[in-house]
Amino acid sequence: MNLQNDIVLRAARGEKTERSPVWLMRQAGRILPEYRAVRAKLSGFIELVETPEFAAEVTIQPVDLLGVDAAIIFSDILVIPQAMGCPYQMIESKGPWFENTIRDESALSRLRIADPGSDLKFVTDAIRLTKKELNGRVPLIGFAGAPWTIFAYMTEGSGSKTFSVARRMLYAQPQFSHRLLEMITESTIAYLKAQIEAGADMVQIFDSWAGVLGPEQYSEFSLKYIRTICEAITEVPVTVFAKGAGFALREMRSLPCRTIGLDWQMDIRESRSILGDQFTLQGNADPCLLYAPEEIIQKGVEDMLSAFGDKPHIANLGHGLYPDTNPDKVRFFIQAIKNYRPR
Ligand code: CP3
Repeated sequence: MNLQNDIVLRAARGEKTERSPVWLMRQAGRILPEYRAVRAKLSGFIELVETPEFAAEVTIQPVDLLGVDAAIIFSDILVIPQAMGCPYQMIESKGPWFENTIRDESALSRLRIADPGSDLKFVTDAIRLTKKELNGRVPLIGFAGAPWTIFAYMTEGSGSKTFSVARRMLYAQPQFSHRLLEMITESTIAYLKAQIEAGADMVQIFDSWAGVLGPEQYSEFSLKYIRTICEAITEVPVTVFAKGAGFALREMRSLPCRTIGLDWQMDIRESRSILGDQFTLQGNADPCLLYAPEEIIQKGVEDMLSAFGDKPHIANLGHGLYPDTNPDKVRFFIQAIKNYRPR
């Protein structure tokens, strides 16, 4: 089906666009009262993720209510460990929690490569339904966690400021770590291909915990596997967002992906000069900018978009929206981006 608004896709393909396209990481859920109303009807987050009708509804909400140029499927990166045999719970106001962590051979031997056709059918069903209901209005973004970030949750068993259990394993059990990372990578490739087959127009890889690794470990235990995924996904444009990986931009130059996501600590002009002109850049306003008065948000938008200049880019935040952001400020930010014209 032809898209009525394909500006994000055109930018992702490296084309110049008539204005800056915009969508926001974590736009689905988190901030909208309309999301919370749907959520309140259900037993919890996981039921929402696993019920395609509701997942499709909250995926489309930000298109209607915020005016973004793309939808991102409502799901979570942690469906992959679950599909591999390592289920998670989402504990209210605490975050993810795994009953069984993967730290030794016996735990590893109980894992399987995810089979998207059975273990992740709720996601592909949600994508099909969302595509139908979007009816070509905007593209739909599929996503997965980067293998390192998934590994970090599976070994640590929950969120962490330092992920020192996960990092310790890279030093103490490097061979074991590589075997687990390989299984996650294989599962993720199958999963992304299933999302594309179901209708995802582009996909993003979230390496949320890139920033806890040093450069050598990042290269060996994360970028290596992101590269394998990028090489395998040739059907649609791929975006790699590695939070906190400014130190690795030089090495990321050789990634076979279309778009590189920048977090708000990365300087746009400097990142462009390191990465060269072959990528579309995405980002990178500080999510806290959205707590500012409108004139400050306006200036933040102008600074960001003039730094992108006339090179291909997709406006976004430098990480996901924070839960207590005022939706009116979000709408103002999006409108300011859409109205911006270079001077
Ligand atoms: O971008 C979108 O809006 C699509 C939906 C989406 C969710 N999670 C829904 C969600 C996406 C793309 C994710 C990705 C995700 N999940 C990441 C990578 C992006 C990032 O933020 O770095 C990570 C690290 C996770 C793991 C995760 N899921 C955590 C740590 C938490 C708890 C804290 C939080 O973010 O709220 C979640 C829960 C989660 N995932 C919620 C939503 C809407 C909140 C759950 C609720 O409604 O109670």
